[in-house]
Amino acid sequence: MNLHDLVRLLRSRWVTVLSTTVVVFFAALVVTLTTAPLYQASTRLFVSTTGSASASATDRFQGNRLSQERVLSYTELLKGQTVAQRTIDKLGLDITADELRSRVQASAKADTVLISVSVLDGSPVRARDIANALSDEFVVMVSELETPAPGVRPDARVVVEQRASIPSNPVVPKKFRNLALGIVLGLTLGIALAAVRDLLENTVKDRETLESLTGVGLVGTIPLDKERRNQPAIAFDRENSAISEAFRKLRTNLQFLAVDNPPRVIVILSSTPGEGKSTTAINIALALAESGKSVVLVDGDMRRPSMDKYLDLVGAVGFSTVLSGVASLDEVLQESKFPNLKVLTAGPTPPNPSELLGSQAAMKLLEDLRSQFDYVIVDTAPLLAVTDGAILATVADGALIMTRYGVTKREQLTHAVGTLESVGAALLGAVLTMVPVRGSGAYSYNYSYSYYGQRTAEAPESFEEGENSKSSRVEGHQSKR
Ligand SMILES: Nc1ncnc2c1ncn2[C@@H]1O[C@H](COP(=O)(O)OP(=O)(O)OP(=O)(O)O)[C@@H](O)[C@H]1O
Ligand SMILES: [Mg+2]
Repeated sequence: MNLHDLVRLLRSRWVTVLSTTVVVFFAALVVTLTTAPLYQASTRLFVSTTGSASASATDRFQGNRLSQERVLSYTELLKGQTVAQRTIDKLGLDITADELRSRVQASAKADTVLISVSVLDGSPVRARDIANALSDEFVVMVSELETPAPGVRPDARVVVEQRASIPSNPVVPKKFRNLALGIVLGLTLGIALAAVRDLLENTVKDRETLESLTGVGLVGTIPLDKERRNQPAIAFDRENSAISEAFRKLRTNLQFLAVDNPPRVIVILSSTPGEGKSTTAINIALALAESGKSVVLVDGDMRRPSMDKYLDLVGAVGFSTVLSGVASLDEVLQESKFPNLKVLTAGPTPPNPSELLGSQAAMKLLEDLRSQFDYVIVDTAPLLAVTDGAILATVADGALIMTRYGVTKREQLTHAVGTLESVGAALLGAVLTMVPVRGSGAYSYNYSYSYYGQRTAEAPESFEEGENSKSSRVEGHQSKR
């Protein structure tokens, strides 16, 4: 995972990271608050060997070295059973010698004759008393051990150089360390969880996945825009919003597809219902019309037509009426409210839409439209529900497949692409729809582009979605048909 991946992960899964951090932090807080405090009291002992006043410098040096060697043994004795038991006896403590030993620490600094002794206890006063009593008992014990024979001066002696005082603050729990550790652990765990969730993610959310599953390049990233639910058509003459810019970029990218033979009859597909086919078809048509091209929008979704509703047009006659020979194309082609855009609504739902759409009449109708308009944009029914979309795609110049961000499942997309391949339809590009603008940071993908599958720097205007990279797989909604 490089820095870019980490930033993307943090932006797209910040809720997971934050909530894990908060949970672990609170766990650390609870542990800290419920841990019984322990106080530490310390003494310092000084070890000396007994030398006569007339001893030479060499003797004193040797005496000093002997003291240092003894110090190491003393630190062990201080943690031993005997001195612990004597301390217990002296203070009348209600604990075992082993328990006391586990609370005693003794250490000596290298090249010194000083020993630090510390004792842990739940009571600060008792900690002090034990430390002092233990040190005193040790002094007595040393004088016994180091006296070669009764009445002879001991070889070494220990004095309590610094007595213990009552500790004011407990040493356990270590509040600051625990809480800091809670944050660090929480963050680490949160990032790990986020990465696992990312791995388990089975919807399409990024360019790489989309391109790899469809085997074509991302040509458009359409942001989620709640206004589209009330008014599917964008007023391109007035609007300069993110979504209108996204469609203008999509329009530009369409012109770069197959430059020698640019597609003019384009079918808008998706795997499952509700991925934004109709809304996107309308706005691609409007974006093309805005650039001065004559465009016809065809509602090829005869099972659940929407162009009449979305564009306030007559739905009683249309595509199916012409195919059945009841009316001519000119009679049913409707003017829209927008310049350069005419619409062929779906017409009444026939009993056999797939058959009708696969007929010679349908092919001829699309050819007629091609000859009359610069662009023919055909909306369709979802691919995984019915074959209508795939049939229309085979007679068109190519198809664009819509994929709804975070909803379309990878398997669904893979399945839909497989259906298209099996009928030999040309897929021109993929469009990621309803991409959240804030929070996930997904829409920022719009501003970088890949060149032969490689992500590079910031995209120049309108080329940010582009080149193809190969691969395969995806998914979407439940079919309602
Ligand atoms: N970019 C967008 N931002 C917000 N909402 C959108 C966007 N595009 C489409 N929608 C909404 O999503 C819903 C489905 O859109 P639409 O009807 O275009 O999808 P569809 O793929 O044509 O569906 P169906 O398969 O049922 O025909 C609609 O309520 C629409 O308003
Ligand atoms: Mg639709």
